Amino acid sequence: MSRKLQPGKLIAATHNKGKVAELKDLFEPLGFEVVSAAELNLDEPEETELTFEGNALIKARSAARATGAPALSDDSGLEVTALGGMPGVHTAIWAGEPRDFYLAMEKVERELNAIEAEDRSARFVSCLAVAWPDGHEETFRGEVCGTLTWPPRGEMGFGYDPVFVPEGHQVTFAELEPQQKHAMSHRAVAFDKLKKALL
Ligand code: IMP
Repeated sequence: MSRKLQPGKLIAATHNKGKVAELKDLFEPLGFEVVSAAELNLDEPEETELTFEGNALIKARSAARATGAPALSDDSGLEVTALGGMPGVHTAIWAGEPRDFYLAMEKVERELNAIEAEDRSARFVSCLAVAWPDGHEETFRGEVCGTLTWPPRGEMGFGYDPVFVPEGHQVTFAELEPQQKHAMSHRAVAFDKLKKALL
């Protein structure tokens, strides 16, 4: 049974500034005070699961326990069809640590070239998880399909945005104004489902 999320303090269980900005854009107009895990100096738990849902729950659970407030997390990534869905849950560290998204985008491109892939389709997946301090939890999944382009284009957004052209568009996510991206992103799709269930 879904539980309603009452407007008030909501912990964004992420240290990723791009995600925090997107989550603030989505939740603050609805009366939530979004405070990020980075602002609260919370530890980043290890993401040990093999699914987006599992890893999103690890992050939300840990932030809700540490703060005593409901926490929201996003676990997301890029699934490339010709690479069998990789990098998937490994998207954030695809080129190793420290994270360098230019190197990660280049690695995806190199792997597509190595198999002479004609299919350049890919999708971004987002799983939003909400955890309450008493242990109640819910997850919502959103996806956006598109194709990969090379070289990277655009200065906005974050992560793999400069190589991702969403279906029905000619420009990359990084060439769209943030509001345009936020209206159609995988996170927005997951957020619409969350809104219907929890708000
Ligand atoms: P995680 O959810 O923290 O494991 O990281 C997901 C990774 O996927 C991020 O670090 C980004 O590289 C990538 N990613 C997720 N959402 C987006 C997006 O909207 N644009 C570009 N890259 C994204």
